[in-house]
Amino acid sequence: MSAQLIDGNALAQHWREQVARDCVALQARGVKPGLAVLLVGDNPASQVYVRNKVKACEQAGLHSVLEQLPADLSESDLLARVHALNRDPLIHGILVQLPLPDHIDAHQVIEAIDPAKDVDGFHVASAGALMTGLPGFWPCTPHGCMKMLESIDYPLSGKHAVVIGRSNIVGKPMALMLLAQNATVTICHSRTVNLKAMTLQADVIVAAVGQRNTVTADMVKPGAVVIDVGMNRNEAGKLCGDVDFEAVRQVAGHITPVPGGVGPMTIAMLLVNTLESARRTLSV
Ligand code: GUN
Repeated sequence: MSAQLIDGNALAQHWREQVARDCVALQARGVKPGLAVLLVGDNPASQVYVRNKVKACEQAGLHSVLEQLPADLSESDLLARVHALNRDPLIHGILVQLPLPDHIDAHQVIEAIDPAKDVDGFHVASAGALMTGLPGFWPCTPHGCMKMLESIDYPLSGKHAVVIGRSNIVGKPMALMLLAQNATVTICHSRTVNLKAMTLQADVIVAAVGQRNTVTADMVKPGAVVIDVGMNRNEAGKLCGDVDFEAVRQVAGHITPVPGGVGPMTIAMLLVNTLESARRTLSV
């Protein structure tokens, strides 16, 4: 039996169209959602990411500003830019692309963002809101994973979810989101002893470690849902995830591909969060 694919491209397109429609409705009420993206330096991968984010905004009818700043920009100058955007009424979301150059403390910069505009969901206020179930912004990648699970109508209550990876951006928020849906959650990481013993118990596996072939077919319970957050290259330079896709798809019930899985959903959720931020300015 071959797993059903969860098509991230199609689902992301659905969300982008939904945002575009909601954006028109919001504009009729006088608010055009606006996102500011700050890129410091010329990291080629970051340049591609931010260009895709800005393009997605434009396609959905959002206002977007891309500020490309020099690699030697001082931390205080970057903080000044963030403070100015915090005050800008046309901007509802602020995204500082990571990684930042070594001389800049990323924590200081993220904490300078007004939590009401933290559409990346990286601020401690956003993390605290997620932990306590208060309204805030969810980090885009795990948010996208949850939408993928919703799309297959998979009831998470009582299911065992194993999250591999404990980053602040994916693993930890992912675990909290699954927990909020009443899943029993196990977080595994590089020091986990016998990862296979854990994953074999899982109804849902979320792989977010950044290492290919972390999840192989012998580690997956037949019928499990496998979400692959990884973004790696194989020896031929081809994009691949953390999951041995061709083998695991023979065992799993549902699986996300790479490319065309979680990646497009991350950008779609950035638009969803920015729209939501703009909406909140009307309801306060
Ligand atoms: N670098 C890689 N992914 C991300 C992301 O989702 N947000 C930001 N700000 N930087 C990133």
